[in-house]
Amino acid sequence: MRRLIIAGNWKMYKNISESLELTNGLKRELYDIENIDIVLCPVFTSLASVSEVLTDSNIQLGAQDVYWQKEGAFTGEISASMLKDAGCLFVIIGHSERRQYFSESNQSVNQKLKAVLESGMAPIVCVGETLKQREANKTLDIIKEQLQEGLEGISAEDAGRLIIAYEPVWAIGTGKNATATQAEEVHAYIRSLLEKIYTKDIAASIRIQYGGSVKPGNIEELMQQPDIDGALVGGASLNVDSFSEIIKISQRVRK
Ligand code: 13P
Repeated sequence: MRRLIIAGNWKMYKNISESLELTNGLKRELYDIENIDIVLCPVFTSLASVSEVLTDSNIQLGAQDVYWQKEGAFTGEISASMLKDAGCLFVIIGHSERRQYFSESNQSVNQKLKAVLESGMAPIVCVGETLKQREANKTLDIIKEQLQEGLEGISAEDAGRLIIAYEPVWAIGTGKNATATQAEEVHAYIRSLLEKIYTKDIAASIRIQYGGSVKPGNIEELMQQPDIDGALVGGASLNVDSFSEIIKISQRVRK
């Protein structure tokens, strides 16, 4: 059985003191959760302080983006080793907001992925179709292209550390989540692609998160699906009560 992984993507919300307040609240609520990887992904400026608060806790730290070069004259960027130094174990790569607003492409996702794997951290690679693509029946083609190009040249050995997040763009921040059946269909397809790219065993070991308007009210149904191994949560991760509830419900469903 794959271990569930539930990550909070805080996006561009919360300054340092607000980040610490949320982190401390979550530590209090979630200290006894054992069978789920819990990951918080604050803004860059909060990483080091949140990392300190998370020492010796059951909650881990992730970043929202990375640059693939090790160091150099790349104003405004941050490398994988710098994120690791700040305490990160996970990095989100290719989030749809980065694809949409910051020209992220499958090729840049691929370069970032290689840098993160080389650093020893675990990448959370995001894929997902827009509403227009879904309505044109292009969902699976888009997912295939994003995965094949994004994972180009990633060895079977490294693939074991991959986490994939399926986030339909039309479900992000809209309150309109994919139904559990819609999500499971794409998750199962992603797993079948991973089988083709790698092996059945490797595909069976890779965790696939769902993201897009996840909240306490829809998490149970999503977690009951065989190929949904966790969630990447935006808005509902910014609040102690809603994020804790999502995790507690997931633990109950998967126990
Ligand atoms: P929401 O949960 O706010 O829809 O955001 C999802 C997301 O983009 C997580 O990365």
